[in-house]
Amino acid sequence: AQHAERQRILDTLRLSREQLLEVKRRMSEEMVRGLSKQAHEQASVKMLPTYVRATPDGTEHGDFLALDLGGSSFRVLLVRVRSGKRHNVDMHHKIYTIPQETMQGTGEELFSHIVYCINDFLEYMGMSGASLPLGFTFSFPCHQSKLDEGILLRWTKGFKASGCEGQDVITLLKDAVRRRKEFDLSFVAVVNDTVGTMMTCSYEDPKCKVGLIVGTGTNACYMEEMQNIELVEGDDGCMCVNMEWGAFGDNGELDDFCTQFDRIVDDCSNNPGKQRYEKMISGMYLGEIVRNVLMDFTAKGLLFRGKLSERLKTRCIFETKFLSQIESDRLAMRQIRSILQHLGLTSSTCDDSVLVKEVCSLVSRRAAQLCGAGLAAVVDKIRQNRNLNQLSITVGVDGTLYKTHPHFSSIMQETLQDLAPQCQVTFHKSEDGSGKGAALITAVACRIKSDGQ
Ligand code: BG6
Ligand code: GLC
Repeated sequence: AQHAERQRILDTLRLSREQLLEVKRRMSEEMVRGLSKQAHEQASVKMLPTYVRATPDGTEHGDFLALDLGGSSFRVLLVRVRSGKRHNVDMHHKIYTIPQETMQGTGEELFSHIVYCINDFLEYMGMSGASLPLGFTFSFPCHQSKLDEGILLRWTKGFKASGCEGQDVITLLKDAVRRRKEFDLSFVAVVNDTVGTMMTCSYEDPKCKVGLIVGTGTNACYMEEMQNIELVEGDDGCMCVNMEWGAFGDNGELDDFCTQFDRIVDDCSNNPGKQRYEKMISGMYLGEIVRNVLMDFTAKGLLFRGKLSERLKTRCIFETKFLSQIESDRLAMRQIRSILQHLGLTSSTCDDSVLVKEVCSLVSRRAAQLCGAGLAAVVDKIRQNRNLNQLSITVGVDGTLYKTHPHFSSIMQETLQDLAPQCQVTFHKSEDGSGKGAALITAVACRIKSDGQ
């Protein structure tokens, strides 16, 4: 009976092929709604125009600053681009921490801290007082009507600094620079991390027309035909669209696939009811889903001898790195037990370790499949846009979960191939981060600006 009860709960975390096809279908539908003038307001997937149209042509050059804010680490970078040969980019960076209080304090504090870090970095590089153009990777949903403006629609992930939503983040940054009076920024482009990642990768592989992040959060961008982007005037060429697909499901599109555990994770989050797809896929939430399943098993007497420890009741103890470790095929059960012990879950038996591993595998498999189903909708849309029977395309990817999990990428690719058989998709892992791409976008904008003068 115990076995049957355990299986019944685990089965709720499995998705059938039909369900995944349905996820793909609904994602396709939401994409069209997000792009249309009429349905945009109600659409969950916002399909935000980014004003990035041109890829680098090799003639841009100069020194650029870049900021990378919103992933697991905050970085300030100096990117030196030399014209002529591709791959001729030199980068220096420094990682800074953003204290929890600053992330959740006032916007003024957050932006002052960012400017403090830029100033420290300029000193460190021996460039105090410089006035450079800056590519700002800001990994949150922003409404843009040009490249150098980004109105924060809402915070996602762990951020909630007050007074920023509804504001232009470039104005907030420039105000903070003015308050500090130590250096200047000549031009600032706002770039989502998916867009920066796509650019970083497309600099090396021109077939890269999609950017994907599977890290703290998840999101994708891709090059869309201008004629399909109803929110922007003009029908010629393409523009990169930041999908903000993490919000898929916020209108109930995933309700029939969600489990009670997803609902608890959502309810206890910073932003209940929002980013529902992200909460089933990305690193910030997978460990929490696992922990809630384990708590349920324990409460039912199916795990840890029925003893609910304080430790297991603690939010966020299962970081992505533990999931990746537990699921590594190289580990013996004994080692899993020692990870659980390290997490403070001491009363575990060998059977417990087997069950914990199974829960982790199911949760991450479902995440990879859901992500693959979303991506299937994206590449099939690009294929249809181009009226092709077969499409060959590259996706630029970044994010700790994607990069460190032993099975995520292969399961995602399997699902993608199954659900979009007419597309041959190559994945290009970004090693350089999104800052390089953000600097390249800034470089292109500066070139076009000076060409026009
Ligand atoms: C980094 C990119 O490498 O990956 C960031 O430079 C991005 O822009 C990040 O946000 C996403 O991964 P994670 O795991 O740090 O959230
Ligand atoms: C969240 C943000 C999105 C970002 C993603 C990955 O979903 O809203 O802008 O791209 O996380 O970092």
